[in-house]
Amino acid sequence: MDDRQRYDRATAELDPPFAILDMEALRANAESLVRRAGGKPIRVASKSVRSRPILERILAMDGFRGVMAFTLPEALWLVSHGLSDVLVAYPTADRAALARLAASERAAREITLMVDSAEHLDYIEAAVPANSPPLRLCLDLDAGYVAFGGRFRAGALRSPVREPVHAADLAADVAKRPGFRLVGLMAYEAQIAGVGDDPQGSAAFARVIRLMQARSARELILRRGRVVNAVRQVADLEFVNGGGTGSIERTVREKAVTECAAGSGFFHPRLFDFYRGFSGRPAALFALPVVRRPAPDVVTVLGGGYLASGAPGPSRLPQPYLPPGLRYSADEGAGEVQTPLLGQPAEDLRVGDRVWFRHAKAGELCERFAGLLLVEGDKVVEEVPTYRGEGKTFL
Ligand SMILES: Cc1ncc(COP(=O)(O)O)c(C=O)c1O
Repeated sequence: MDDRQRYDRATAELDPPFAILDMEALRANAESLVRRAGGKPIRVASKSVRSRPILERILAMDGFRGVMAFTLPEALWLVSHGLSDVLVAYPTADRAALARLAASERAAREITLMVDSAEHLDYIEAAVPANSPPLRLCLDLDAGYVAFGGRFRAGALRSPVREPVHAADLAADVAKRPGFRLVGLMAYEAQIAGVGDDPQGSAAFARVIRLMQARSARELILRRGRVVNAVRQVADLEFVNGGGTGSIERTVREKAVTECAAGSGFFHPRLFDFYRGFSGRPAALFALPVVRRPAPDVVTVLGGGYLASGAPGPSRLPQPYLPPGLRYSADEGAGEVQTPLLGQPAEDLRVGDRVWFRHAKAGELCERFAGLLLVEGDKVVEEVPTYRGEGKTFL
């Protein structure tokens, strides 16, 4: 039985739209991430999962340790449900959440905040009472690649802290403030981890990406190592985090890195099909029903416009996945309430049949569905809530 037959059979009694998680594929993807990490622990990036029961199941597997959360309210919520060691990977300016963090001994013990400036330190200090337990901090380092005297830059615009001297200065500033403890350092090389080195289309573009990534990796090994050494003179670091799904094996090779992060690799969304170093199995899919047939080789499905975040373009569209060979209409793309799909496979689809899609990114899919149907073989064995299904929309 092929995947389409399995998924159709497992969900035959249900009416789409709905989302499924193929548990065998999820486990295989998780095992592959662990193999690639070569013994270093993987911190699970929650933004790419966005379902608490699934996060818990992943964390119960060997090789995973801690959560990389995306907001402080999310981290507080996860900790209130028993999760531990939660690193908030993006700075917060949420005063109420900071006050809640400072008011809870357990939350202050389990949650680590991200900072990259004295301005952040001042802001957090102003938001929490003076006698609070010390808050755990992680310093975010710019891991972007800069060339041609600063005229070329690749990588996310995140932290202003780049060189060892900047990092050591900020670490020294933290050390002077009794309300904080610097416990971690994070440097996320988005230009390697999040950019496929096997893009479709232009071979010349692929060569440019590979060259940029090779140079960036070489530069980062040295700089990340020097920054970690400089910060360790001032702070007792518990962890140094780097990388993501697309870079694991490269990132963990660096001695200075104690753990890597990964999230997208669990669901293996469309954007992660374009890497030479690894492959995964599409695990999270959503089904939309065929609701009309405007022409013999066109079907229209209900909804579908679940675009992914990032620089806009065709790569942000969901992929019509099964049956293979369907494509969007250039005029309509994926629509708010209906999506025409063109191509020969449409000839065999009837009203009520389903088309299976993959999201371009991973966890954003869960903002569209209240639950994930867990598929084992050709059966739905359970339904678990997404963050949305638990009434939580953190971003
Ligand atoms: C700080 C940080 N680390 C790691 C990742 C990698 O996550 P993923 O494995 O989902 O690509 C991200 C994603 O944006 C990130 O922001």
